[in-house]
Amino acid sequence: MADRRRQQKPKLTEDQGMPGAFEGETVTRRRAVTSSAHIFGGIAAAAFTLPALGFAMGPVFEKAEVGWEQVGAAGSFPMDTYLPKVITVSDGVGEIGRTTVYMRARNPQLDTEPEDEFNQFVALSHRCMHLGCPIRYVDASSRFICPCHGGVYGFRGEVTGGPPVRPLDRFYTRVRAGQVEVGPRYSVNSEFQRYSPRDPAQPLDGIGPYLYPSRPTIRKFPNT
Ligand code: FES
Repeated sequence: MADRRRQQKPKLTEDQGMPGAFEGETVTRRRAVTSSAHIFGGIAAAAFTLPALGFAMGPVFEKAEVGWEQVGAAGSFPMDTYLPKVITVSDGVGEIGRTTVYMRARNPQLDTEPEDEFNQFVALSHRCMHLGCPIRYVDASSRFICPCHGGVYGFRGEVTGGPPVRPLDRFYTRVRAGQVEVGPRYSVNSEFQRYSPRDPAQPLDGIGPYLYPSRPTIRKFPNT
């Protein structure tokens, strides 16, 4: 029965072409309209999606310029307390691009991490490593206090209380012509080992560095 139906169905020769098609057409009009609708739909979707994707992903691949900024004569920094200095971390955005660093000279009794030309002066970021609030140095207790959720840091920037997940970030320092210069930021784990800069709330102990890798295009500096 099925064989008979197949036999009854008229076969189209090449000359006859497809039903409903003009001479020379190679696809049906239904298929042509459907394909056009898919193509235009794809273009419209891309027109909406690609700009949004570029806007979202762009900052991830931005390369930060590394600059060095003079903050004072080498002899002007004490070992037993911090001096606040203001530096520019992003050019061209006014006050928003400026940040406070707490600075002192390296104290060999306290600062036991390996010594090199970039840590003769200690420059601590004033951003809390819990959620990024500005911390404040309290001279009377030799501690850094975060007013947001009670984060407390010791004299070297190590966490001594509250929710911060790692010590305060640091900046490379160097001395040129008797002037201390502050360079790029880096992060440290609880052993004060250097890592390329991370965001607040990203721990760097244990598997932390693997869970929170640095941005792929961030400029690596010595020993990070
Ligand atoms: S932001 Fe500093 S303790 Fe929460």
